[in-house]
Amino acid sequence: MGKILVTGGTGFIGSHTCVELLENGYEIVIVDNLRNSKETAVSRIEKISGKNVIFCKVDICDYDALSDVFRQYDIDAVIHFAGLKAVGESVQIPVEYYRNNINGTLVLLRVMQENGCGRIVFSSSATVYGMNNKAPYTEDMPTSATNPYGYTKVMIEQILRDVCVADSGFSAVALRYFNPIGAHGSGLIGEDPNGIPNNLVPYIAQVAAGRLKQLSVYGDDYDTPDGTGVRDYIHVVDLAKGHVCAIDYAMKNKGFTAVNLGTGKGSSVLEVVAAYEKACGKPIAKRMAPRRAGDIATCYADASKAKEIFGWEAKLGIDEMCADSWNFTKLNPNGIV
Ligand code: NAD
Ligand code: UFG
Repeated sequence: MGKILVTGGTGFIGSHTCVELLENGYEIVIVDNLRNSKETAVSRIEKISGKNVIFCKVDICDYDALSDVFRQYDIDAVIHFAGLKAVGESVQIPVEYYRNNINGTLVLLRVMQENGCGRIVFSSSATVYGMNNKAPYTEDMPTSATNPYGYTKVMIEQILRDVCVADSGFSAVALRYFNPIGAHGSGLIGEDPNGIPNNLVPYIAQVAAGRLKQLSVYGDDYDTPDGTGVRDYIHVVDLAKGHVCAIDYAMKNKGFTAVNLGTGKGSSVLEVVAAYEKACGKPIAKRMAPRRAGDIATCYADASKAKEIFGWEAKLGIDEMCADSWNFTKLNPNGIV
């Protein structure tokens, strides 16, 4: 087993992935600047796994600090979560999104190359399928974007493809996540957004907890079975396990590959609300609202490539996702503090 550098490892998906890596015998070094997470996540990862974690408070744009980390630890592979991820914010402050996400990745790749590390698993997104493809999405479809956040994902995938062409020994896996929700069953780690959540399930969770008044359902006139938007929600623990498979794959294979991580099934907004009501045992107040700009009707994965090349498939359904989200929300009324 090797030592994995996890950039963004104290964040939502990163912290769950650290737990799975530790449970599968990997050692980890977390690098995070804590811009969107708290150091408390480190002790919680240690508590769940019963293992020690090395944490370095480093910004991946800081070449000297990142080089020191690589000099200090013998890194076999990198899982690269670190990045800014709010679509709306990326439209407001595009330069900051390109600086942090693109420049951060370029600094990371430079430091990896200088230290002879040639394996990376990257957090891409279903957003790269853009507005013009039709679900279920397959990895060979053309990619595009409609906002700066999406462009950072499209561009970083291209950068990784180019690195693999230039260096035939390099291995890069871009994981295209669909809609990660839920939390670890322990309730110790989960999603802890700053301010009012933009995403559906964190918003519902705060309505259930009495912190927000009601959910706005963005559009009930889509061409979907009940008129509300359909997405492929995936339990963050299933997603995290997919990263262990991707690392195992990157250890044995060279070149670039993109892989969807989704369940292959879509749920509508109203289906998610119903599942959450079952999980928390109370009604979720909601009102119908106009469509949100930039949203599409239906988005779900063709998840067959992950099964074929990783032997991975999602196991947990929408009921478990909502139950674990509610458990985390109840146990952490003020988020991770
Ligand atoms: P998150 O914000 O919880 O985690 C990202 C972490 O990266 C945070 O802990 C943040 O502090 C850190 N970070 C940001 N910039 C950094 C920098 N310059 N140096 C060091 N650390 C930095 O987000 P998440 O939901 O865990 O997402 C992880 C990755 O997955 C992101 O790249 C995101 O774009 C991608 N992704 C997320 C979703 C989703 O719905 N959550 C969907 C698709 C893709
Ligand atoms: N929705 C509501 N009310 C809300 C929030 C969301 O009705 O308050 C609806 C949306 O219209 C959509 C569905 O719930 O139909 C899911 O919306 P999310 O914001 O939870 O997720 P998105 O599919 O819009 O976006 C997510 C990530 C993006 C990523 C995209 C594609 O947040 O970062 O998936 O991977 F780009």
